[in-house]
Amino acid sequence: MKTSILLTGILLCTNVTLAEESGKELFNTLCLSCHTINPNKGITKVAPPIFAVIKHVKSAYPQREDFVQQIIDWVEYPDKDVSLMRGAIKKFGLMPKLPYKQEEVRKVAEFLYDKKSTLPTWYKKHYEEKHGQNKAK
Ligand code: HEC
Repeated sequence: MKTSILLTGILLCTNVTLAEESGKELFNTLCLSCHTINPNKGITKVAPPIFAVIKHVKSAYPQREDFVQQIIDWVEYPDKDVSLMRGAIKKFGLMPKLPYKQEEVRKVAEFLYDKKSTLPTWYKKHYEEKHGQNKAK
């Protein structure tokens, strides 16, 4: 009995510490160094801006849980055969495999899915040039 109370206590504490770092903060720590989040910056970094990533992954995986799982799988093992952004691989090279904790990547992915973002006009143009009929929303 005591042990289970203790365990529950430990689990609750762990959850609390995890909850302290929000998906946004984790994104800033884990992804921002390569993926810019600022729509006015253009493609200046070493990787596509994050709204472009969100757009591609959401088009292929519109359901939240599928989207989240795709991001988790990708970060764990980037693979050009399952890439949704082959043009980006040509331009920037394949994303390196990153030894991140799965539960942290999950929070980042949930933050990215829920994040309201409007695509900047320059990017809509770029997307429509690349994808033709498949208009950027
Ligand atoms: C060291 C630089 C770097 C970091 C850090 C990084 N990425 Fe990337 N990422 C890239 C590059 C370069 C690409 C474009 C090429 C590609 O798709 O592999 C990319 C592409 C992606 C894609 C598109 C995959 C596809 O279908 O081609 C996703 C999703 C993604 N990143 C998610 C993340 C998330 C989430 C994080 C943080 C947890 C992150 N990345 C951190 C460099 C990085």
